[in-house]
Amino acid sequence: MFHRFAGESVIDQSNRVPDGPIMLKATDLGHQVDLDNDTLTILQGANLEIKRGESVAIVGRSGSGKTTLLGLLAGLDTPSHGTVELDGAQISALSEDERAQLRAQRVGFVFQSFQLLPALTALENVMLPLELGGHEAPETKARELLTRVGLGERLTHTPRQLSGGEQQRVAIARAFAADPIVLFADEPTGNLDNHTGQAISDLLMALNREQGTTLVMVTHDEHLAARCGRQLNIEAGELSEPDGVSAPTPLKESSV
Ligand SMILES: Nc1ncnc2c1ncn2[C@@H]1O[C@H](COP(=O)(O)OP(=O)(O)OP(=O)(O)O)[C@@H](O)[C@H]1O
Ligand SMILES: [Mg+2]
Repeated sequence: MFHRFAGESVIDQSNRVPDGPIMLKATDLGHQVDLDNDTLTILQGANLEIKRGESVAIVGRSGSGKTTLLGLLAGLDTPSHGTVELDGAQISALSEDERAQLRAQRVGFVFQSFQLLPALTALENVMLPLELGGHEAPETKARELLTRVGLGERLTHTPRQLSGGEQQRVAIARAFAADPIVLFADEPTGNLDNHTGQAISDLLMALNREQGTTLVMVTHDEHLAARCGRQLNIEAGELSEPDGVSAPTPLKESSV
C-alpha cells in the first residue's frame, strides 16, 4: 500500500518517477545526542518517501544535519525516534548482522570522509566489497570501475598516496562495486575540480538512468542538485521541500 504525500499536488512532479514502488521511507525520524548538561537535537521529525529510481539531492548549510540524516537513512546509525524502511524492510527492526547484510547487498555509501582502508591499495579497496559479495571476477570489475572514475593509472596507490579528490573517486568506485539498488553519497563532488566533478556527476546520473539506481545525495554542488529529480532542504535539523512546500507528512490511513 502506498501513502501519498500531503501537498504532493503542488510539487512539480515532472522529474519524478511515476508510481514506482517506495524505496525509502522515513517516518518522524529524529536524532538527539546527550551533551554534558543538555540534549542537542540534530534532526527533528523528518518524514520522506523516495520512490525506486528517483534521484534526490539534500541541500543545506554546514551543520544542518545532512550527514546525520543520510547515515540514519542508510542504517549506519540508529535514530533516537522514528523509523526508516529501506526496500520494504524496517531497518530498526533488524539485528546488527541483518542490517550489515542489507547494506552489503543493496546499499552503496560514499562517505564525506571517504573511509578507505589505509593499508589497502585503491584496487584492493574496491575489490573488498566484491570479494565479500562473492563476485566471480573482483579484480577485473574493480579495475573497470577505477578506470571509469579516471584512476586506471593509480591502482596500486594507497589512500595516503592519493589526493583528496582521488580518494573520493576510489570511494565512489567502491560504492558502485556491488551494483547497489540505492546509493547514498555525501558530497560526492565535494573535493573535485569542475571538470572531474562534472564527470562524476555524469557517472552518477548514468547509474540512475541506466540501472535505475535510486540516488540520495547530499551536495553543495548546484549543478549536481539541479540534475536530480527532486531537492530537499534541511535547515537546523528540519527537512522541507523547496518553494515553501513542507516535507511530506504521512497521511492517516483514512486519507490514503
Ligand atoms: N555525535 C555527535 N555529538 C554531538 N554533536 C553532533 C554529533 N554528530 C553531529 N553533531 C552535530 O550535529 C550537527 C549536524 O551534523 P552533520 O554532520 O549532520 O551536519 P552536516 O549538515 O552534514 O554538515 P556539513 O555540511 O558541514 O558536512 C552539527 O552541528 C554537529 O556538530
Ligand atoms: Mg556532512
